Amino acid sequence: MRDGILGIDIGGSGIKGNLVDPGTGALLAERHKIKTPRPSSPVAVAEVVGQMVEHFSYSGPVGCTFPAVVRRGVTLSAANVDQAWIGTDAVALFERRVRSRFVVLNDADAAGIAEVSFGAAKGVDGVVLLLTFGTGIGSAMFVDERLVPNTELGHLNFAGFESVERWASSRARDDEGLSYEEWAGRVSRFLQHLNRLFSPDLFVIGGGISRKWEKYAQFLDVDVETVPAVLQNEAGIVGAAMAAVQLS
Ligand code: BGC
Repeated sequence: MRDGILGIDIGGSGIKGNLVDPGTGALLAERHKIKTPRPSSPVAVAEVVGQMVEHFSYSGPVGCTFPAVVRRGVTLSAANVDQAWIGTDAVALFERRVRSRFVVLNDADAAGIAEVSFGAAKGVDGVVLLLTFGTGIGSAMFVDERLVPNTELGHLNFAGFESVERWASSRARDDEGLSYEEWAGRVSRFLQHLNRLFSPDLFVIGGGISRKWEKYAQFLDVDVETVPAVLQNEAGIVGAAMAAVQLS
């Protein structure tokens, strides 16, 4: 095994990987990105995962994110990916393609693990909610730095929408041409609702939009400390690798 653990972040448009130092969260190579195949069927995605492992000439445990509910390696939902993933044993599928052991976990949970380990939520006790804003809305909940997996808060029924992510994700902002102020108004209402439900000590805003923090931070209105993710787009890769440490 080369230095570091391979983390792979599977998203609706791209699949990204890198070697990660699990002690520091540092990225050890140049990030490699491959377009997500269309359709994003399990077999097609497993092939890309295999190519990723080969790209890094890697052998060793692999951590892999997936944008869905993942229980014991089985993907149980498919909001923004091919429906064939529902009920797929992703760990078994990847381990058939690659001679390595795999951990597969929800993408937002992985991002949260990275932020708790090395980023914005490091050392924060109590209830922390990380939300990722992208094509959907992902969520990761921590209680005293321990993950409560698969919270799926982006699928709360809210503002007349069956899933709040259809109304307040980054994609909704793009599709509807919302200004940052308008979009942040929606996010604020969502955060206020989450505050009523969970009384968190901290919100961490992640996903691609965390890079644009200064464009909307002044419009966020919720009575809870709210900060941007530190690891930004690399959080999924880092958290995936951290989750694979248990296999090494
Ligand atoms: C999925 C979640 C995922 C989020 C962000 C949602 O549609 O249901 O599992 O974490 O998108 O990718």
